[in-house]
Amino acid sequence: MNKVGFIGWRGMVGSVLMGRMHEENDFAHIPEPVFFSTSNAGGKAPDVGREVAPLGDAFDIDALAELDAIVSCQGGDYTKKVYPQLREKGWKGYWIDAASSLRMEDDSIIVLDPVNRDVIDRGIDAGVKDFIGGNCTVSLMLMGLGGLFKEGLVDWVSAMTYQAASGSGARHMRELISQMGSLRDCVADELADPSSAILEIDRKVADTMRSGDFPTAEFGAPLAGSLLPWIDTQLENGQSREEWKAQAEANKILRTDTTVPVDGTCVRIGSMRCHSQAFTVKLKKDVSIAEVEQLIGSSNDWAKVVPNEREATLEQLTPTAVTGTMDIPVGRLRKLNMGPQYLSAFTVGDQLLWGAAEPLRRVLLILLG
Ligand code: HSE
Repeated sequence: MNKVGFIGWRGMVGSVLMGRMHEENDFAHIPEPVFFSTSNAGGKAPDVGREVAPLGDAFDIDALAELDAIVSCQGGDYTKKVYPQLREKGWKGYWIDAASSLRMEDDSIIVLDPVNRDVIDRGIDAGVKDFIGGNCTVSLMLMGLGGLFKEGLVDWVSAMTYQAASGSGARHMRELISQMGSLRDCVADELADPSSAILEIDRKVADTMRSGDFPTAEFGAPLAGSLLPWIDTQLENGQSREEWKAQAEANKILRTDTTVPVDGTCVRIGSMRCHSQAFTVKLKKDVSIAEVEQLIGSSNDWAKVVPNEREATLEQLTPTAVTGTMDIPVGRLRKLNMGPQYLSAFTVGDQLLWGAAEPLRRVLLILLG
């Protein structure tokens, strides 16, 4: 494989991908990286430590068809427009994509190699050409709980999520901070006076959140000081699309023989880029917590068991601790009152790293051999 094209490398996920590729010196393994743009063809390509061609036109199908692999973080609309044209032209290259458009296609594999390297390898041998990154919550769940799935111990999982603003996009992250600032500013005088009445502060904050001036153009509702228990579109069965993805994608990633039910409520909260999830796992049998910890901690290099203790939890199992890192801490591991087969767990993961960019760069390296 010689020529690898990059599209959408300047956006948020693309920038995280580029950052990781630089950190790991990935470009040394790519004989000819080619960068494309949807708006600035002919412009200067990013620095990869050696001479590369100016930016190509991301809609130039003939130019794209010369590539051996394409890595796209440009989004689903781009995929829907360009991918079919390329395949219709007879292009046989690898399509590696962060967008969801091709995820559930029969011909594609959802990539998360620390969890499904066997599925990826079998797919490559069978001639699969489309390798798609999973939904962030699903990938982060499987990075944390993969050891239990691999052992066939999971009867079902309920995942209650606490999802960061970044899952909606860069503009949403900015809006969250603007909302936070607006709340603080509306009671700046009262906060400076320790004797001011807390209920007056609370009333002003609520009035500000409900006022037409509060910045909600992106989320469509106040998030700071609140939460949003609906992510993505509405399906006819009462699930949000984000909730639907959990079972559909998790089972596709693992290539399970019989579907493991996964369901829960997905909630947007005011964290920046870490998704957290509280799981209730119905185990197929009574497995000790020590064994659960061993399976989780040894399933990949990033899942780390956090002791179910207050101090360790508040130190290690929060978005603040995890943001910007590759760690997938899993904690709050204990049996629930419902019985010895009911396990509680909590995990946190950076949704731009393992949730988006990292599986893409890793599958590219696998394909490069
Ligand atoms: N759908 C996710 C979210 C983004 O809204 O948080 C990551 O796939």
